[in-house]
Amino acid sequence: MPGKNNILLKNGHVVDPLNDVDSVSDVLILDGKISKVSKDIVHENEDIEVIDVSGKVVVPGLIDCHVHLREPGYEAKETIETGSRAAARGGFTTIMCEPNTNPPIDNVEQVETLMKKVKERSLVNIYTKACITKGSKGETLTNMERLASNSSVVAFSDDGNPVLKKDLMEEALRVAAQKHKPLSPHCEDSASLSVRDISKAKLGFLPGELFENEANYILRDIGSARSTGCHIHFSHVSLKESVEHIRKGKSQANITCETTPHHLLLDRDYVDNDGERPNMNPPLRSKDDVESIKKGLSEGVIDAIASDHAPHTLDDKKAGSPGVIGLETTLGLVITKLVNPGIISLKDAILKMSTNPAKIFRVSGGSLLPGTPADVTIIDMNKEWIVDVNNFESKSRNSPFDGWKLKGQAVMTIVAGRIVMRDGNIIASS
Ligand code: DOR
Repeated sequence: MPGKNNILLKNGHVVDPLNDVDSVSDVLILDGKISKVSKDIVHENEDIEVIDVSGKVVVPGLIDCHVHLREPGYEAKETIETGSRAAARGGFTTIMCEPNTNPPIDNVEQVETLMKKVKERSLVNIYTKACITKGSKGETLTNMERLASNSSVVAFSDDGNPVLKKDLMEEALRVAAQKHKPLSPHCEDSASLSVRDISKAKLGFLPGELFENEANYILRDIGSARSTGCHIHFSHVSLKESVEHIRKGKSQANITCETTPHHLLLDRDYVDNDGERPNMNPPLRSKDDVESIKKGLSEGVIDAIASDHAPHTLDDKKAGSPGVIGLETTLGLVITKLVNPGIISLKDAILKMSTNPAKIFRVSGGSLLPGTPADVTIIDMNKEWIVDVNNFESKSRNSPFDGWKLKGQAVMTIVAGRIVMRDGNIIASS
């Protein structure tokens, strides 16, 4: 009977961008850690499960750096348990959740409570972002020093409420820089914090229509990143102009950014299988913007792909709640629509879905380096499947990709040497 967390993956096509591996190899996992990556590993120890993965791709566990788990407060939409099962099903070994829960994650006690539940209920590694301002209200900074000292906190963000006051944003950036944590702002004029009540001097630019100011926030924050030395990671970039600011800004400041599958693949004219126009923040943009986002991704301006998994109940969606789910579709969409047509290479896809998110948020994973926890995803590039929201592990069904035919899917998810998903089935309990 194979021992716990000892696995030998035989003859897979290993893609590990950090270690520049892109060839057929074996991967040996001992005691939950990567032990060796090389051809023809022979291991006589009987205490090992040997799995033939020839014809499959073996990559460092996928990392989604933008996920809404909804717990605490909105458990009808998603929970730590169901969100983590959806992550494992989609091939993600690590996810980072947003702090817009109820109450919001704006103090260390909240983080500790959340992480206690994570330990009890999650199949995958979970980190969290913490609020920049108390209650995400844009008025008073949270105790960022204390929050930053908690190893589960990877970044600060007020999620859909951008910090409108430039001087407060700069104060936050100074604290974050000292603590070596990134700020991860959403660059949008939110409906709940009226941008019109604020002067140009305080905001840094003129208030505009909802969601039309993304590029202005980005420009403002690049200037602040430069003057404070803080690393800013821009969430879900969606406009051509934003990509151009970030392209230029990268030589001046420590900035990175992500985009989502929906902003890469859908434009504002898209109508889903139910005849609906999907509603999310930021909204779907023009065809020209979509092309620029793709170009930004393939040219390396956009560092990461994140799902912005935003579960909602059917009733909440009917009432207009913005957001789409993505943990169970992101990998298939990226392979089918970006890798297979040659827009990015498979290696680049893994860079943006594993290696870069690990580096940006300074978490373990993102490579198959010996000695590190064995977080590994195995992908069948030839698996053809149809997105069916009714089969999802997520509690929610709000995917604009329902019914899409995809080719490429995760067939095994291994977290710290433990197989949590095999052939689409969750086989471990939390
Ligand atoms: O569409 C969205 N919904 N975008 C976000 O950034 C937040 C999310 C949510 O919380 O539902």
